[in-house]
Amino acid sequence: MTKHPNTKITILAIESSCDDTSAAVIRDGAVLSNRIANQTVHSDYGGVIPELASRMHDKNIVPVVNQALIDADVSKSDLDAIAFTKGPGLLGSLLVGVNFAKSLALGLDIPIVEVNHMEAHVMAHFAEAPYPEFPFICLTVSGGHTQLVLVNDHNNMEVIGSTLDDAAGEAFDKTGKLLGLPHPAGPIIDKYAQMGKPLYTFAKPSVGEFDFSFSGLKTSILYSLQKRVKEDPNWVSDNMYDICASVQSSIVTILLEKLEHAVEKLNVKSAAIAGGVSANSALRNGLLALGKKKHWHTYIPAFNYCTDNAAMIGISGYYHYLAGHLSNQSVSPEPRLTITASSKN
Ligand code: KG4
Ligand code: ZN
Repeated sequence: MTKHPNTKITILAIESSCDDTSAAVIRDGAVLSNRIANQTVHSDYGGVIPELASRMHDKNIVPVVNQALIDADVSKSDLDAIAFTKGPGLLGSLLVGVNFAKSLALGLDIPIVEVNHMEAHVMAHFAEAPYPEFPFICLTVSGGHTQLVLVNDHNNMEVIGSTLDDAAGEAFDKTGKLLGLPHPAGPIIDKYAQMGKPLYTFAKPSVGEFDFSFSGLKTSILYSLQKRVKEDPNWVSDNMYDICASVQSSIVTILLEKLEHAVEKLNVKSAAIAGGVSANSALRNGLLALGKKKHWHTYIPAFNYCTDNAAMIGISGYYHYLAGHLSNQSVSPEPRLTITASSKN
């Protein structure tokens, strides 16, 4: 049973889909706390190692949850429900969060609310005003996904296009690996790009109208680097800032062209970006400039709600809770969970 709508609703949210352990407390849709334990253990390996990620979640989850409750000045007995990421994500990582949420809820005799991680990235826009007006198109760009989502309501969204191969975040990270940068390379490429010029061009993909492809771009960058390094072994280090500016400009151009096409074709007036790559300065500035030119309303999430965090899980969970979408104790993680057009996954 959900509470009467006039009563305050306090939700503990858990996020453990990839390599960040996060817990947040949400009251009536407002964020009271949002704790994140980043896992630096993966940076030496050039990518997230699933086994290490789940072990770190196991180690971090209790202190992170306790700290989120302390920050929010909320005790376990104040909680009305626990929201958790059901998927998509790494199975071992998801298992830690799902089992923690189920066990704690069982002990407290409160309901659990499953949340789709990609839907939650979109819902991060409802963590702070101004809230987007429905309907809007959200370009959700993370390390594992690249999606164009038509958002009709808090619990009603539809994926209208997605990547056929690498995600935008992967394009940044894999290119960074080619350049010898540590993982995740996205934020470093962003920083270096601000000191360089986009002097180099790479092959542009040609795929279905709302879909994306980044693997060809990565190959084009690789061939271009190999050719130049053959002539000058120091070419990458000597031109690092310009290379980063060029890579970033190629990825952001592809993303914004598709977003523009979707907004115009579907005749909506509002556009948003979400997910880890929405922290990218060129993408943020590019969307603002495009929105100004096209007279759209544009929505850019605060930096702390771009990359993985439990606050967005709590916000999404809150709206599902209000709609009566409660899960039962037999729920299990779904590493390949997709957004469905209706309200509940
Ligand atoms: O949403 P997220 O935290 O995790 C997933 O759900 O995947 O996104 C992580 C991705 C990584 O690929 C990272 O390189 C990228 O977001 N990223 C950025 C920036 N900050 C994070 N990419 C480009 N520019 C940034 N400033
Ligand atoms: Zn994410």
